[in-house]
Amino acid sequence: MSLPKRVVLVGPMGAGKSTIGRMLAKELGYRFLDSDRIIEERCGANIPWIFDVEGEEGFRQRETAMLEELASEAKTVLATGGGAVMRPENRQLLKQDAVVVYLKTSIEQQVERTRKDRNRPLLQNDDPEAVLRKLFSIRDPLYSQLADITMHTDRKSPRLVVRQLVNRMKPRTPRHKRQVRKEGRNHV
Ligand code: S3P
Repeated sequence: MSLPKRVVLVGPMGAGKSTIGRMLAKELGYRFLDSDRIIEERCGANIPWIFDVEGEEGFRQRETAMLEELASEAKTVLATGGGAVMRPENRQLLKQDAVVVYLKTSIEQQVERTRKDRNRPLLQNDDPEAVLRKLFSIRDPLYSQLADITMHTDRKSPRLVVRQLVNRMKPRTPRHKRQVRKEGRNHV
């Protein structure tokens, strides 16, 4: 695989898309774009406020409009929100000229990483774990279908995930190439 025009990160809440995306962009010399943060900047309000005032549907419309704009940017690493894969038109946009990476994460890790978070409206209820399980059952097949690379992130530091991704995207030396072959074609 040669260096892609752009990289798109998909996966559930708590997968590490923003942290890994920022580091990966630096490593590749690409610009980092975080769809949720740009929606917040443009709107002048945070995601809980958008959900409150406009409902989830209002947020989804903003998300699609944002992806339409961001999905044509070359030399970028784009971190998407966990629900971005739900709309077929978003999936179409995301895969254009891109290598799509699914950051696959166990429910336990998602629960752990989102435990204290107040910025994710879908998890502000009595049983966030049940919500994460339900979302996983619906979305995991969509993430998997869309992805060119599925990368497991459990028990790995962001630095290791980034190194493995870079190896997959630009296997420069014979040692790299052997390592990539060893790690398997689609699953790392
Ligand atoms: C959502 C995930 C969030 C954010 C919004 C909805 C979802 O992004 O887009 O709260 O539907 O899973 P992260 O995956 O970055 O937390």
